[in-house]
Amino acid sequence: MINLKGRNFLKLLDFTPEEILYLVDLAADLKDKKKKGILTTDMHKGKNIALIFEKTSTRTRCSFEVAAHDLGIGTTYLDPKASQIGKKESIEDTAQVLGSMFEGIEYRGFEQTKVETLAKFAGVPVWNGLTNEFHPTQMLADVLTIREKLGRIKGVKLTYMGDARYNMGNSLMVVCAKLGMHFTACTSKKYFPEQSLIDECLEVAKTTGATLTFTESVEEGTKDADVIYTDIWVSMGEPEEVWKERIDALLPYQVNAKAMANAKKEAVFMHCLPSYHNLETEVGREVYEKFGLAELEVTDEVFKGPQSVVFAEAENRMHTIKAVIAATL
Ligand code: CP
Ligand code: NVA
Repeated sequence: MINLKGRNFLKLLDFTPEEILYLVDLAADLKDKKKKGILTTDMHKGKNIALIFEKTSTRTRCSFEVAAHDLGIGTTYLDPKASQIGKKESIEDTAQVLGSMFEGIEYRGFEQTKVETLAKFAGVPVWNGLTNEFHPTQMLADVLTIREKLGRIKGVKLTYMGDARYNMGNSLMVVCAKLGMHFTACTSKKYFPEQSLIDECLEVAKTTGATLTFTESVEEGTKDADVIYTDIWVSMGEPEEVWKERIDALLPYQVNAKAMANAKKEAVFMHCLPSYHNLETEVGREVYEKFGLAELEVTDEVFKGPQSVVFAEAENRMHTIKAVIAATL
């Protein structure tokens, strides 16, 4: 019997495969209830949670707010400018203050050490809504989406193209190792995940049947993939100046029709979003003016094409975040 009450949700390395799948199953059940109009507001009625965002968000913030509402929970949103965190008050002090008022705390910010410190001193469950190193709630949504679209998780070959040494590449490698999937980082070797994390994942993989592959060859990396996954090349908090080096290094790893054609016929395209696939964003237009590229990590054709499941994936953020809150409070 799995019981996650009182647990933090900081990174998937802290969870067993069974616990991860328990959360995915719970999310599927909560999604089914939502679709049928069955209310779940009694589950945690009368509780309150704090949502700290030191970086911006559309999906994660909305998912926490809607999920909390559906569970009968009140929310308080703290944006990067509206709180004292880090500037006038330490994480440790903030943790103790918020821990005395709220039953749970979500944190999106920079270093993983910050969310770990918050959890150490809060005395209530803390959930990682994205750090530089990890994005664990995104992983649950991705696994649920893969299972819905492909009908299985174990043995799925997932190829990640782009910056594989940041939160998304790291987290996908971890979740693949945990759930017996075949992870490939298909990118320039400068953007492979850190060796210490690779080693940790290789240890996990020994017990789950997962494999980890690192290749600079698009031909080899995308061959027979079930999932082709990418993320933006410059993440939140990184300086604008890195665009040039990212484009130079990662353009060969853009997800385009050729990469998709080399994957399995029934392969899906995934992206955590937001994405620069056209000129409909300010950043997209700025990059176009400087570098002449209208599409970055993925072409518009693939993004909008029949294999793309990005919006189903985005919806699943809410159902899976609801599962994390429901299970840990
Ligand atoms: N995928 C994701 O975390 O999106 P947001 O930055 O909009 O929350
Ligand atoms: N790597 C991206 C993920 C956004 C969900 C970032 O950190 O900005």
